[in-house]
Formats: sequence, C-alpha cells, structure tokens
Amino acid sequence: MGKFFLAILACCMSVISLGQGAPTTTPRVENLQTEHLTEPLGLDAASPRLSWQVSDARPLAKQSAYRVIVATSNDFGAKSLIWNSNKLSSDKQLAVYAGLPLAPFTRYYWKVESWDHKGTALPAAASWFETGMLQQANWKGAWISDDHDVDFKPAPIFRKGVKWDKPVRSARAYIAAAGLYELSVNGQRVGNHRLDPMYTRFDRRTLYVTYDITALLQPGDNAFGVLLGNGWYNHQSTAVWDFHKAPWRGRPAFCMDVRVEFTDGTIGYLSTGKDWKTSLSDIDFNSIYTAEHIDAGKRDVIEGWNTPAFKDTAWKHVTLRAAPSMNIIAQAMVPIERVEKVEPVSFKQINDTVWLYDLGRNIAGITSITATGPKGTVLRLKHAERLDSAGRADQSNIDVHYRPHDNSDPFQTDIYTLSGKDNDSFAPRFNYKGFQYVEVTASQPIKLTQQSLTGWFMHSNVPPLGKLTASNPLIEKIWQATNNSYLSNLYGYPTDCPQREKNGWTGDAHIAVETGLYNFDGITVYEKWLADHRDEQQPNGVLPSIIPTGGWGYEWGNGPDWTSTIAIIPWTVYLFYGDDHLLKDSYEAIKKYVDRITAISPSGLTTWGLGDWIPVKSQSPVELTSTAYYYRDVTILAKAATLLGKKEDAQQYRALAEKIKAAYNAKYFQPAKASYGSGFQTELSVSLVMGLVPDDAVKSVAATLAAAVRNNGYKLDVGLLGTKAILNALSDNGYADVAYRLAASDQYPSWGYWIANGATTLYENWPINAKSDISLNHIMFGEIGAWFFKGLGGIKPTEENPGFKKIKLEPHFVPALDSFSVSHDGPYGTIRSSWIREGRTVLYTVVIPPNTTAEILFDVMVEGSRKQVRGAGTYTFTVVY
Ligand code: BGC
Repeated sequence: MGKFFLAILACCMSVISLGQGAPTTTPRVENLQTEHLTEPLGLDAASPRLSWQVSDARPLAKQSAYRVIVATSNDFGAKSLIWNSNKLSSDKQLAVYAGLPLAPFTRYYWKVESWDHKGTALPAAASWFETGMLQQANWKGAWISDDHDVDFKPAPIFRKGVKWDKPVRSARAYIAAAGLYELSVNGQRVGNHRLDPMYTRFDRRTLYVTYDITALLQPGDNAFGVLLGNGWYNHQSTAVWDFHKAPWRGRPAFCMDVRVEFTDGTIGYLSTGKDWKTSLSDIDFNSIYTAEHIDAGKRDVIEGWNTPAFKDTAWKHVTLRAAPSMNIIAQAMVPIERVEKVEPVSFKQINDTVWLYDLGRNIAGITSITATGPKGTVLRLKHAERLDSAGRADQSNIDVHYRPHDNSDPFQTDIYTLSGKDNDSFAPRFNYKGFQYVEVTASQPIKLTQQSLTGWFMHSNVPPLGKLTASNPLIEKIWQATNNSYLSNLYGYPTDCPQREKNGWTGDAHIAVETGLYNFDGITVYEKWLADHRDEQQPNGVLPSIIPTGGWGYEWGNGPDWTSTIAIIPWTVYLFYGDDHLLKDSYEAIKKYVDRITAISPSGLTTWGLGDWIPVKSQSPVELTSTAYYYRDVTILAKAATLLGKKEDAQQYRALAEKIKAAYNAKYFQPAKASYGSGFQTELSVSLVMGLVPDDAVKSVAATLAAAVRNNGYKLDVGLLGTKAILNALSDNGYADVAYRLAASDQYPSWGYWIANGATTLYENWPINAKSDISLNHIMFGEIGAWFFKGLGGIKPTEENPGFKKIKLEPHFVPALDSFSVSHDGPYGTIRSSWIREGRTVLYTVVIPPNTTAEILFDVMVEGSRKQVRGAGTYTFTVVY
C-alpha cells in the first residue's frame, strides 16, 4: 500500500457508527485459570497465578474492582479462608496468590468477584486447583527400575497389587519418570497424555505428573501397572547430536506415590519400593528418534499384567535406583495428546507384500495398524514425507543425520511381529514421526485394506486462540500450513522438525513464537522451555543452540541470532499475556547472556552466529544480523530492568544499546543511499524492524527496501532472519501492498509456491527439490502466520499495557484482498479485526473485548488518522477512497 493511497484513505474516511453492540448475555466472570491451566492437579507453585475473564457485551464494559478469595472448602466458610485479596480498585484480571502457605496434596477453591464500570458486582465465579508435592521431602516412594543396562532393548513393565477395604473418597497418583511411562490402574490406561513426562535436562530437572484415579479404583483388590519407555533419557539410536552420550543416560526408572483419602478421613499410600515386581513387555525396542518394535507373540504371557488377578510370582523384584536429579517438580503444562485422527486418503497395493498409504497431508505423530497373519509375520511400517520417482516411500530428505551401526533400527520404521491370532493391533507408545506416507512391507503375503491403518496427529494440545479468513484461499492455506508446522513442532518444547532432528533449535523457536502465540495458548510450554534454558546456561552465560541438549550445541549455532530465545521469548510472552512471571524468572539469565556477548564484542559489533540461514541467494553479513539480535536482547533487558524497578541496570543497558546502535550504523548505514550493507532485503528489513535505523531515515530506508523488492520482480531474497523481518518492515512503513505481494505469491521463492506444489506444511528450503536442508515440516519460515495478524489485521499488543489490555490496531486494507478477518482470543477476550471491500468502500469492523481499550492507526504516516477506541464494543468504520 503506497503513501498516496493512504493519504486518500485517511482524508476520506468516515466513521459511521461507534461503540455498537447490544448486550446479548448477562455479564459474567468466566474462564478461571490457575497457572494458566484450567483446574490443574498437582501444582508446585508456592504463589500460583489466578486469572479470569469477564464476558460482558455492553459497550465500554470494564472491570472497576475485584476480589479474590481462596479457601480450603468450596462453601468458602470463614474458617476455611486462607486468602482474601480484599476488594481492590483494579482492572487487573490476574492476581498472584499471597495468602497463608499452601499445604501439599490439597484442593483449594477460589472465587473471584468482579465489579463492572458502574460499580455493580457481577455474580462471583469459582474454580479450584490442587497442590502436589510442593517439596522434595514429601516423596515417599523409591526410584525403581529393573536390573538391565542402558543397551538392553525391551521395555520393562512393573506392577503392584494392593487391597483397600475402606471406601475411597479420592485418590491421586503422582508419578515421576526418567524416560517415558504409561500408567494403568486395574487394566485401564490412566489419562489422555502421551509421551509423558516432557523432555527436560533430566539430571537437573525431572517432571512428575498427577492424576485423579478415584474412578479407576474398586473396592478390595487393585493393581497398578507401569510401562517404561526410553524417550530422550536413554537414547539408544545414534545420530550426529550424540544423545546416546548424554550424561544423564540410564535404563528408564520411575517413582510413584499413590495417595488415597478414605471416606473415614484416613490416608493410605501405595509407593514404589522393593516390593514391586518387574518383567518385560511386548515392546522389543523403542526410540523416540526412530521407531518402535513390538512383538504381539509376547502378549500372551503378560495378558492382564496390570489387573489384580494376574499372578506375578514368575516376575523379578525391582532394583532400587538413585533419583535422576534432586529437582523433581510438577509438570504444569498442557499435555501431548493424540489430537486428530487422520485417515488415509489413498491406498495402493504395490505387490503381494507391499502397500502404500497416503494420509493426504504431512503430520507429526504416529500410525496405528490392525492386521491378521501367520504367527511370526513381520510388518515394517516405513514413514516418509515424500515419494521417489517410482512412487515408493523416500526418506532421503530426513535420514541424513542418522548414524546407525547396523540395520536393526531403521529410520522412522516401526517393526511389528504378528501373533497368529486375528486382528493384532499395534501403535507405538514411546515414539513419534514426521510423515505423510507409510509404506508397509510384510515378510509374507497377508491382507491389508485402506482401513487397516490410521494416522494420529499428535502435539502439545495448546488451545487454539487465532482465526483467519481471507477472500484469497491461498492466504488461508498458508495460514493452515503454518499452524500445522507449528503444532507438528510442539512436543513439550518447540522443535525444528518432527522427523530428521526433533531438536529444540533456539533460532527456529524465537522466529515462530509470535505465530505460536497469536494462534495458540502456548504460555505453559514456553515457561517450561525457558526453565530448560536456565538449566542449560553455563555460568559464563553461554547457552547451547539446541535446548535441551545432551551436551551438543555449546560450540556451534549458539550466537545471539539463535539463542536470543532467552530474551525474546519471555518478552513476547509478557506482551501477549501481560504476565511478567516468565520475564522475572528469566531476568538474571538474560543479563548473563547479554554480558557474555558484551565481553566478547567490545566494539559493540558481534560476529557470533549463523547468519541468515537458508537464503534464497544473497548472503547478508553474519555481523549485521547477529549485532541486530544483540541489540534486541539489550533493548529487552533494559525494558525488563525498568519494569522490574532495577534502575541502574536500566540505565546501563540503555547506554549499551545506544553504543551498539551507533557501531552498527557507523559500519553498515549508508545515509546517502538510504541503505544498509549491500542493500540486500535482509540487511534493510532487519535494520528497520529492530529499530536500528535513525528515526529520520526510516522512511527513506523503507523506500529503499520497497525498491529492492520491486527490482527483484517482487520476489523474496531472504533467509530465516530475513523472513522474520521483511513483511513487517514493509507493512509497518507504508508498503503493506508490497508485503502482501510477497506473502500471496505462488511463484518461487515463496510460501505460496510450496502450497501450489501440494504442501500442507511449511518447508525448510525455498526450492522444493533442494538437495539438502529440505525437511517438509519446518516452522523456521513461519513468521508469516503472525504477520497475517500484525500486517493485515493489524492486531498488536502494546508495551505500555501488555496482554492486549491496550490494543494497537493497524489494519492494512490491501487492494488485492476483498475481505479479510482475523481474531485473537487474548487474556481479556476476543479481539477481531475484519473488513469487506465493496467497490470503492471498505467496511472495517473491530471488536474490542471488555476491560480493554484500543487505538486504531489507519496509517502511521498520515496525520490525524488515529482513532481512539475508548473501550469494549463493536466498531464499524466505512472507509471511502
Ligand atoms: C535445523 C534448523 C536449525 C539449523 C541451525 C538445522 O539442522 O533443522 O532448523 O535452526 O540446523 O542451523
């Protein structure tokens, strides 16, 4: 969108209605959360965060005061109260618990009263949370395992029967594992979590999970069963990142306390100890990285192993083990789940023993299969993202970093042995893959149909928060593909790709964090991952490039262009949620990191980094991009210092930021040409979005960037760091139409080019037939998913009032789109920005949730175009041009 167009737009714009929206429902308080989770069990936080939303459709609805009460009883009787915040004149909707010390294993009830803008109390809403161990000393169980070593392949099972004669009021299982577990009670799998507990640096922090098992218990005899998998704890497959040499590696182990409250008020425990028995499961091999091998022929002897009737006399006694770390803490985050069932769209029998399934889309997750055949028949399920020229599963783009010692552990290939009975069913429990195609090979002819196999899209089940519709279907498809790649790369930590690596590559994650947070409620995953960062940071401030790591990554790829996650993620979470908890927790780590860069970069410029990874053609200097990220970290640190009342730090880091900016401009800025470096798209866009361009040159540098794009035939010429910057650099500075041409292109190189060639996820490289670095499910180039919200819908949080308390709306009605709508469910409710074009008129509608305000900027360059929106409501503008 050019300046001329905008000037006309602004002067002819007329507002036809303001603050519309008749109340449809009774105002109420809702969506109560504790630690950003709904009714969580087993929290370890001493001062949990309590948050709520107000649903109120009245124009300008606002909270004028609130009161939070926490009690041990749900009748909130006087004796049960442990915290009363008292009525506070405040529009805040997040309170940090500040009452009596919380006790372990306790359900606390809380309610919030909220007064509206007229001073009228809304009906109170209630919720609860439960504490877990709170302290390490509260664990009663021992860490147990079997007596096999790290190289032993079959997965162990553990069991213990117990008799409870008294009726049970409630029961909880607290289970911590080094490795992965599946817990069952009386033969039933507990809960819907997969691949629990989440991956951490096990020797520094190990997670436990709490389950309500009340409904699974029965009067009298009960049995508990635990199946253990290797996960990242015992990486038996060998690849270039050396996870098989991780210092924490060991045979999987676990510790569990089952705590039962009987109706007579007494408490019973069942804990892991020497009295548990162990044997081996039907899983012959399991690797988080490659696959799982299961022998259904081994199921007979363990049939019913986790039920009370099973006789375990032939089983062995367990071995007591050291705890993996002295920091066993609650997993307070959304779980990984089998979120979507994906049935094959096509099925082909290639010959008597080979079949090919196509899911029709690329996913991360697993397949399950049901088959019948002679005992000992071996099925191999090879998972791949693409097909070779002969139409067979091709793994050559994803197995490149795998270093197998022999052919017993083929990449992304589950190996199943049939029992000879009807309908053997298989699904891996301790592995996932990235794939679209599954080639099944049987060791002898059997019958398979299209219905024999099912795909499951798995990921951290973060609730969706973003919606988008556009008159151009390509935009909708790019948005969906971006979300598919974001979710495929969210497994308790953000990854680069679900197949080749599954690594927590830092750079990929900070590039994608806004895309993630506009579209999904991901705060709990990021809070956990930043704790992983703190576990990995060396005393000298250095962070590895992949987090968590078994040791690899402290030497390569860990400059500020990648590991600035330590600053960028807490800051972005603060902007999106208005919650400074993560920023506070990360402050010292950010400071250590920044001080480290400063120590090795006395001039203010740094060459530490990888640079504009996977560029189309032009390679911008590493020093330029890394220094820009260094500047960003220092700027965030200075702002965080101000916010947290650290005045000296604020002053020191503001001065450092000025020094870096001056050094950067002295070396790269060419005022006469209004350009940076060689004038590459990345050099110009990164300088603009990072705020490194002198104020009086922003306009002219943006014009240089727009010209560079035009002169390149409106084609991208950027790599990873450039993709983060270019669309925003254009749309924030008067060239939304140019940004849109790049975003909506279906020509090489572009996101749309992948889609036009059948992509359902984002790729790692611009050419679809690239010889290397061509995973077909990378989130790395995913900033576009955030840009739709920022650059077209224009929904942005503000630093002064984060959490979308004060919303900035900067829509760009690009001429090529006839209609467009985005919405984001922020902490206060749904924000919507949408328009429909009819001839020379644009009907623009915004929805502002209760308790927020917004400022609409129709164009930053045009005087008088700002519209203050005083508060909640639906606003419609008719824009004539
Ligand atoms: C990963 C990237 C990552 C990069 C670092 C690759 O192998 O897949 O996404 O950021 O290495 O250079």
